[in-house]
Amino acid sequence: MKDRKGILLAGGSGTRLMPLTSSVNKHLLPIYDKPMIFYSLSILMLAGINEILIITRKEDLSLFNDLLGDGSRFGINLSYEVQDNPNGIAEAFLIGEKFIGKSDVCLMLGDNIFYGPDLETKLVQSSMKNHSTVFSYGVHDPERFGICEIDNDKRVISLEEKPVKPKSNLAVTGLYFYDSNAPQIAKNIKPSNRGELEITDVNIEYMKSQNLYSEVLDKSYMWIDAGTQESFLVA
Ligand code: G1P
Repeated sequence: MKDRKGILLAGGSGTRLMPLTSSVNKHLLPIYDKPMIFYSLSILMLAGINEILIITRKEDLSLFNDLLGDGSRFGINLSYEVQDNPNGIAEAFLIGEKFIGKSDVCLMLGDNIFYGPDLETKLVQSSMKNHSTVFSYGVHDPERFGICEIDNDKRVISLEEKPVKPKSNLAVTGLYFYDSNAPQIAKNIKPSNRGELEITDVNIEYMKSQNLYSEVLDKSYMWIDAGTQESFLVA
C-alpha cells in the first residue's frame, strides 16, 4: 500500500446554505441519519487512508473533536488544523504541508457525497496510481463547477473553474489524489478573481506536466456537492 495521507476540508462559511449555517458548520448538518462529514470521511477510509487531517474554522474545532475525537473509535488517526479565513481549497496544502511531509495526499471536500457500486475498488486503485487523479461526473449545470476535458487515455487536457462557456459537462468533483508536490504547487499559485487559491489552478499545474488523469463516474454513481439548498435537499 502507498503511503498516502488524507486531508478533509470542513471549513468555509456555508453562505449558500444560510440560514441553516448561520450558527452550525455546514459539515455538521444532517444528511439522512448522519452528520454530513461522515460521508466524506468514509470515502477517505474506503480509499484505505487512515491518517487524516481535518481542517476547519477555529470556532468549530471543539465540535469536530467532540464528534470524531482522535479517530481511534473508527480505527483511524485524526488530527486537526484551523483555516482562519476562507482563502480557498488549495490553502489546505499550505496549512497541511507539515502533515503531508513526503507522503502522497488525497484531498476531500467535506460537503461532497459519493454513492455507487464498488466505489472502494475505484478509490483504492486511484490511490495506488503513480499519477494524480481527479474524479469527474457529468452534470447539467457545468457553470457551477471546475470543468475538464479528457482524451481517450483519460488524461485531462483542459480545465476551467466555473466557465461561462463550458467546453464539456464533466465536473471535477471534490476528491483529488496527488503526490507530495501539492504543497509546493499551491505555494506558487495566485488568488483568483474571487480572492481564493483555487484547486483548479493546482490541477492545471499537474495537467501541464501531463500528470493529471480523470476517473469518470458514470450514471450508476451519484455525486452531490451538498453546498447549496437544492443539492442539500437532494442529498
Ligand atoms: C469547488 C471547486 C470546483 C469543484 C467543486 C466540487 O467549488 O472550486 O472546482 O468542481 O468544488 O464540489 P466551490 O464549492 O468552491 O464552488
